Amino acid sequence: MPPSPASVRYPDPGAIFASTADAYVRYRPEHPTALIEYVTDLARPGAHYTNAPILDLGCGPGVIALRLAERALPVLAIDPSEEMLDAGRRLATERGIDDVEWTLGDSADVAGLPAVRGAVIADAFHYMDREQTLNDLDTIILPGGFVALVVSHVIGTPKAWWEPILDRLRDRFLGEHRAAGVGVPFHYLTEDHETVLRRSPFARVRVLRVDQPLALTLDEVIGMQATYAFSSPAVLGEQRDAYEQALRKALTVLEPSGRFTATVQAAVIVGQRP
Ligand SMILES: C[S@@+](CC[C@H](N)C(=O)[O-])C[C@H]1O[C@@H](n2cnc3c(N)ncnc32)[C@H](O)[C@@H]1O
Repeated sequence: MPPSPASVRYPDPGAIFASTADAYVRYRPEHPTALIEYVTDLARPGAHYTNAPILDLGCGPGVIALRLAERALPVLAIDPSEEMLDAGRRLATERGIDDVEWTLGDSADVAGLPAVRGAVIADAFHYMDREQTLNDLDTIILPGGFVALVVSHVIGTPKAWWEPILDRLRDRFLGEHRAAGVGVPFHYLTEDHETVLRRSPFARVRVLRVDQPLALTLDEVIGMQATYAFSSPAVLGEQRDAYEQALRKALTVLEPSGRFTATVQAAVIVGQRP
């Protein structure tokens, strides 16, 4: 087991999600609308703000960036994966959205960015040196601004009932220790995001938790596995077909109807300067 430092920025962040972008667009459930609305309200142009953009750091294919832009907010969307950015650009074109600026980069580049009114980091903060990133964000976020950490599963709350089955099969195919991309072991963090945020310049913290109902088909449950860094097509390699067949068989026995429903808890953890 590798050591568990408080925070980690992986050596080649752009490689972590290699090969996942297509599945990500197709199968990853949207973040709950209540969370998007909450961030939108924080970011609405008001007394504090110029027309500086909102930063979506670790934007992936723009799942949050596009929804903020649809709500008339300009977005600077940054990700270290060209593949993810290309997927985001394609979605933006399809939806006629032109107020997102797509930029290759990662958490280590934050200090060099222009001023922003706030930053959203969704399901990506655990890949960053969290303390350093928050300190760097403090240099670019305008007065009155915010950091919003979106998580699609709150640690310690129930997972979908089928997850333990997936975990067991994944361990069988890939070993017990998760990967953060090909050949890179995942670092388990010892502190949760909220604790790290409370120690940062954005120490005034509020949390909005919401239930997220999931209603997935068998294909969607299987497709979702290709959106995770630890079971990406690149990580599975030649084992992908066998792994998906094993999943299909195990899940069909447990839920012959092919309909997978559960409710999980998602959250946005918002930090502002005291
Ligand atoms: C699970 S995806 C989340 C994508 C999107 N924010 C969402 O909510 O669906 C994590 C993203 O973080 C990016 N990433 C990994 N390390 C990063 C870093 N150090 N700085 C910024 N982004 C990073 C990956 O390329 C990937 O697109």
